[in-house]
Amino acid sequence: MEKNIKWFENTVFYEVYVPSFCDGNGDGLGDLPGVTSRIAYLEKMGVGAIWLTPFYASPLVDNGYDVSDYLSVDERYGTMADFDRLLGAAHEAGIRVIVDMVLNHTSTQHEWFQKSCENQEKYRDYYIWKKEIPNNWESFFDGGAWEYEERRGMYYYHAFAKEQACLNWSNPEILRECMEILRFWLEKGVDGFRLDVINFLKTDKEAFLKNNPEKDGTQVHVYDKNQKGAREKIAALSALVHSYPDTFLLGEVGDDDLQTIQSYVGENLLDAAFHFNLGSMEKWDEAYLVKQVLCMEKAGIHPTLFFSSHDMKRHFSRLCGENVEMAELLALFLLTAKGVPFLYQGEELPLADVRLENSSDLKDAQGRYAYEKLLSAGVGEEEAFSYAKERARDYARALIDWRHWEESTVENSQENSLTCLYGKLLKLRREYEALRRGKYGEITLSGRRLYFERSCGQERIAVTMDFSLQGWDISPKSRETAKPEKEKDILLAVRNESGHIIGLVEHLT
Ligand code: GLC
Repeated sequence: MEKNIKWFENTVFYEVYVPSFCDGNGDGLGDLPGVTSRIAYLEKMGVGAIWLTPFYASPLVDNGYDVSDYLSVDERYGTMADFDRLLGAAHEAGIRVIVDMVLNHTSTQHEWFQKSCENQEKYRDYYIWKKEIPNNWESFFDGGAWEYEERRGMYYYHAFAKEQACLNWSNPEILRECMEILRFWLEKGVDGFRLDVINFLKTDKEAFLKNNPEKDGTQVHVYDKNQKGAREKIAALSALVHSYPDTFLLGEVGDDDLQTIQSYVGENLLDAAFHFNLGSMEKWDEAYLVKQVLCMEKAGIHPTLFFSSHDMKRHFSRLCGENVEMAELLALFLLTAKGVPFLYQGEELPLADVRLENSSDLKDAQGRYAYEKLLSAGVGEEEAFSYAKERARDYARALIDWRHWEESTVENSQENSLTCLYGKLLKLRREYEALRRGKYGEITLSGRRLYFERSCGQERIAVTMDFSLQGWDISPKSRETAKPEKEKDILLAVRNESGHIIGLVEHLT
């Protein structure tokens, strides 16, 4: 029995983007009964936990990241009874469930916002209201971050869409309200939360007096995130969450600086930060990958590992050029490297990006915002579309039609399919502690061949990946390991079309 190990350190997560994972009632939108119907699939694959994106009542301007009632299920996704069934089925299958919690902002349809607009005393300071626009801050989508509201006769602040008003975290009432929300879901038995954009909380009134700087014509978000006082709020949320046994608190920390990311993680803060230094790779570069791994080691980060999420293009298209052998190597890395892996729905099949042909394909708020902003600035439709296409996050959000993938389950699919490889890797990770929690030994990149070792106690595992995809015959001789090359040491080999090994996991002791 491993001592003092929190379950999440041993777990592979699978992101379920509720609107597009599985449609249980044939209305074209994913829903909770759909998710429940796939639990057996996830169990067979060997997933340890799912992260469920927002399914609360919402106008769905940002696919549920604009919550209008945190304590109810949006009827398009199902009912509270459907949620209870989903949670029960997952737990029965040994799969934990963490739910996304959007506490930085609410939908402008939320009762709090409506009452705040009416200037009702209790709700007056729930949001950030100013008589005049106080700074140059831009929304993280496109355009200004301040919107005029007629009823109140003031501007309110929104870091994302104008329908997502930011809560005023310098008001202690907000913490109290949010704790109630978390308590509600903890009492239901969820295993934890993913806190959306948690380093964006507006906790410092003074920060609003400062303008963000610009670099190369683009605003740099400096004062509108990582504000003084945010960690205290997170600590209070963490204390509540961890007062329930065996819970996990993950926070999405939008920042490039590893020290900053790490500063939100700790005993009394987040258990882990969802950060983007691997996910934000635009094109494949193993040297960049190694550099990131080494930097994360140096910063003492226990990283979250992912190449895809609902906010980016799928890595099968973006990084692999839709080449399955390459996708196999990325899976090999994700599931043997140090950190907490987060798989994104469908990467195991593998799914490719959807193609955006014209402006009617722009469903995502970020893409639509960019498009409309350019049109209103007089830019032509074609040019506006080609810019907005790059901002849109629709690529990885197409509804999965599972009928096309019936054969692609770990048990049905062919031995050498990608789905099957995910299953095998998940199994290996469960079997070998060194893969789950081992420290890195040697990490080398020679040419396009990456080699690393991980060890835990006496257990030593070596992983080799040849990103040239040319592979080698039997063993990666260039590595010159002293040990004899015995077939039985090989835990898993990935071969290319010509039968050469391109990926290898070996047991060294
Ligand atoms: C997070 C979510 C993203 C959403 C944004 C605003 O980054 O992952 O989908 O648009 O927060 O809530």
